[in-house]
Amino acid sequence: MDSSNTKPFRIAVFASGAGSNLSAILRWIAESGANVEIAFVLSNNSKSGALMIAKEAGINAIHHSHKRCEGNEVVFANHMLSLLRTANVDLIVLAGYMKQLPPIVVHEYSNRILNVHPALLPAFGGKDMYGRRVHEAVLSRGCKVSGATVHLVTEEYDAGPIVLQQCCSVEATDTPESLGAKIAALEHTLLPRAIGLFAEARVTVENDVAFIHE
Ligand code: GRF
Repeated sequence: MDSSNTKPFRIAVFASGAGSNLSAILRWIAESGANVEIAFVLSNNSKSGALMIAKEAGINAIHHSHKRCEGNEVVFANHMLSLLRTANVDLIVLAGYMKQLPPIVVHEYSNRILNVHPALLPAFGGKDMYGRRVHEAVLSRGCKVSGATVHLVTEEYDAGPIVLQQCCSVEATDTPESLGAKIAALEHTLLPRAIGLFAEARVTVENDVAFIHE
């Protein structure tokens, strides 16, 4: 990616947990020289690893929660939108963000919000399918493959256009932990790759299907 003269592609990373995907994005930016800048990291969890990682990297780390907005959905949504607009964010990246985004944010950033999911969608997705539960469900169904999916976010959980997927084998000896570790490693390359595709404007969406262009 030639980053010499063009303005950086600005992403906001939303995360609730440990932040290993955020670390992978930071590593990828540093190593690839991609013209991508993290405008801020936002978390609903003030104690998240993701906020710590952001602070250590000198990135604006924002704790944004319903509690801080006195439980008011409208205030919560408007504040989120104003953070995004003020920072000129091109793409929102959900990297383990455990809250549903307000519909006005999904609408304004339509086809500009990525999520990473630890299974091969459309299987094993939906409202209650997150974290360890996904791997437990895959194992109890006797699946022989699982994997990671990066998809665009719509108002329906895990149902937006699929951008990238990668699979791994599921062995009889796998546990939710071992499968989770294999899939986390896939996510750490897949999510940065998807961000790169958007930064290079190589993704279009037609009739709810994402196409990647050379
Ligand atoms: C990942 O497994 C992702 O698929 C899911 O949440 C997890 C986030 O992990 N949506 P981390 O916080 O990036 O380590």
